[in-house]
Amino acid sequence: MRSAAHGSLVFETHATRAEAERSVAEEIAALVRAKPDAVLGLATGDTPTGVYRELVRLHRDSGLDFSSVRTFNLDEYCGLAADDPRSFTCWMQTQLFAHVNVDRANTHLPDGRVAEADVVRHAAAYERAIESAGGIDLQLLGIGRNGHIGFNEPGADLHTRTRRVELHAWTRADAAAAFGGLEHVPTRGITMGIGTILAARRVRMLAFGVRKAPLVARTLRAAPDPAWPASYVRLHADARLVVDRDAAP
Ligand code: PGA
Repeated sequence: MRSAAHGSLVFETHATRAEAERSVAEEIAALVRAKPDAVLGLATGDTPTGVYRELVRLHRDSGLDFSSVRTFNLDEYCGLAADDPRSFTCWMQTQLFAHVNVDRANTHLPDGRVAEADVVRHAAAYERAIESAGGIDLQLLGIGRNGHIGFNEPGADLHTRTRRVELHAWTRADAAAAFGGLEHVPTRGITMGIGTILAARRVRMLAFGVRKAPLVARTLRAAPDPAWPASYVRLHADARLVVDRDAAP
């Protein structure tokens, strides 16, 4: 593992994706052992899958105990049924929650089915729930093709909090295969804001594979800039960008 500081952002390169995933999972496991009711900020997509797989293994083989852990996910699509397998709610169940002893009552995602009139109230309640849990101890992040983090698409302001957003054309295009066609991809989502993410005590942004290399390069290069929301992590005092060799620019 090689690590270098880019301002306050630590850039960590591992020889392989598996090694990077193990290192992030180990950090989460150490956090949970030290603070059994840790508050984890979780992400969906291809990027965090191996970290979740490793956490499941640590639970199964080493008894890593999630019984008091609280979780808050970054985002959710609007308009999908609760049991829609393409919802992030179902995805989290399949990838992690069903395989560890987390209490489902302690897991939180924005509710994409909330009625139009209740969206603002729901988003404010999500922020309050994070706050009353004591804030997020460690937030996982991926980087979207357009630099988004969560569903904070280009243009997102530094001070944004949980809210409903319109999804960017590239975000929808990248989800088209999973939805069986672009026309089936929701047009909106509910996401934590940049301000919500930066309020986490630690931020761990992951990127694997050659297609992420230009995104990583831009994140390292860009001054914090709304046109590239991933660049906002440079403003965080304890942020790491963890990559494998292929994603290193
Ligand atoms: P991916 O998505 O992990 O599926 O590449 C990243 C993101 O959109 O945050």
